[in-house]
Amino acid sequence: MADNDSSTAERGAWNSKLGFILAASGSAIGLGNIVFFASNAYQYGGGAFYLPYFIALFVMGIPVMITEFSLGTMTGKSFPLALQKLAGKKGEFVGWWSIASALTITMYYITILGWALSMLVGAFGSLLEPGATAPFEGMTEPTAGPSAVTWFFGMVATWWPMLAVVAIWGVTVLLLWRGTETIEKAVRIFVPMMWLFMIGLVINGLLQPGGVDGVLYLFTPNLDGIADVRVWQGAFAQMFFSLSLGLGTMTAYASYLPKDADNVNNSLLVSFLNCGFEYIAGVAIFALLFVYALNPAGTTLSLSFFAIPQGIAGFPFGVKFFGVFFFLLVVIAGLTSAVSLVEGMASPLIDKLGISRAKALSFVLVPGILGSLLFAVPSIIDTGLTGNGTLGLTLLDLVDNWAFRYSLLTVGLLECLLLGWVLGADKIRAAVNVHTKFKLGPWFDWLIKLVIPAILSFVIFFTLVDDFTSAGGKFAEEGGLYGSGYTMPGYEWLPVFIPIAWLTFTIVVAAVLTSRRTVDAAPHEADAVPDTLAV
Ligand code: TRP
Repeated sequence: MADNDSSTAERGAWNSKLGFILAASGSAIGLGNIVFFASNAYQYGGGAFYLPYFIALFVMGIPVMITEFSLGTMTGKSFPLALQKLAGKKGEFVGWWSIASALTITMYYITILGWALSMLVGAFGSLLEPGATAPFEGMTEPTAGPSAVTWFFGMVATWWPMLAVVAIWGVTVLLLWRGTETIEKAVRIFVPMMWLFMIGLVINGLLQPGGVDGVLYLFTPNLDGIADVRVWQGAFAQMFFSLSLGLGTMTAYASYLPKDADNVNNSLLVSFLNCGFEYIAGVAIFALLFVYALNPAGTTLSLSFFAIPQGIAGFPFGVKFFGVFFFLLVVIAGLTSAVSLVEGMASPLIDKLGISRAKALSFVLVPGILGSLLFAVPSIIDTGLTGNGTLGLTLLDLVDNWAFRYSLLTVGLLECLLLGWVLGADKIRAAVNVHTKFKLGPWFDWLIKLVIPAILSFVIFFTLVDDFTSAGGKFAEEGGLYGSGYTMPGYEWLPVFIPIAWLTFTIVVAAVLTSRRTVDAAPHEADAVPDTLAV
């Protein structure tokens, strides 16, 4: 074990390999696996999603994860400084840009988690009861049956979710208070719990009459969709997000591993755990969709936030129990991911500025919480609810479109180019191969240097063309910038403002941090992590 001087304690080190695997898979498994995967798979036609998905996993996801883990174990630093060590200043800029993007994404990730927490509270109360409206004033009308849609829009149109957002940020920072030590404690409880809950939901789904049809829909290969570039774009963005790639998270976590960690083995384990969970979650959700013939029209959130509660409300018994169960699962899975996102930002601040963990956390917390609150602003700007209703939801939709679909893939593209060509993919491969049984062949170099950059460039280019030509993104065929098709009197400037604001913010943050001098607070950094780790 490493000596416990203050620099070691500040930077952190995992206690065991299991601790790391739980933390990394806890990071990977989150809203992406439950909320976004199901909605993507549904939107892109179940079995049509499957082939692009597996190609995305093997051709891109696993190799990029090996690379991001190696950055951490080779340098003992988090993302920006690891890239700086291996590929120079340009690398550091890309690293900080990705950290600024992580901040943007974390802001609304936590808002969504706040809504899930509100739904959890609602599940104890009136969410799943017939004739119920949201327990707050809002624009709700009583409905005959339980209506999660009504409840949800009633809820986001109040100030209550802001409390939930503050609570989630509070818990996230608490779980990070002593770095790897507290993360490890949390994931030892939360990650097994997540699996148990999900397996419970799957069994429940499959036991319902008709549940198996949902599974068939998800698993029957359907080759019609694969000619559609959007399906591929959806699968690649989903894979990056689901595996926690492109925002520095996995590099930060791997930087607390010893140098001799087996990055191939770890990547395979984490990706299979993640994608296994994702498909199991898909089974649980699609089973309910088919049992209750639910039709989740509309936004990304509608499947898990409307359709699933709706299905649960139809259970012959155990309605409250399963309602609480489902949202508790979403909150726990999301928390372990939020923890990793915030650690992925705090860790490089500690490395770069030589500040304490508490200070680094507050540098993330203060802007982060303000941003999350902004996404929870309940003022209704789209009275017809044809768009996204509240100001918060509209902002979330617009920011998500740019930050989610461009940041991760752009960082993925740039990191592969920098490491593949500036450092040399063969150097990474050689470093990885020293410590692994599954030796990487020269194919790895070509994936990193050519294949992945080519695919990502194509997907990014196609997304750009799509965004500038279809006004409502996925839901409108009219020409124009993404979002310009929404009806929101007084706020028509938002679709133009958001991409400009997001780009300016991320580039300025990246430039400022890159230009600062690195203060090394951990001069014993070589000893910070033990050379080998017990299993
Ligand atoms: N992978 C997580 C999910 O599926 C979210 C997440 C955590 C993430 N850290 C990340 C996504 C880093 C991208 C990059 O919900």
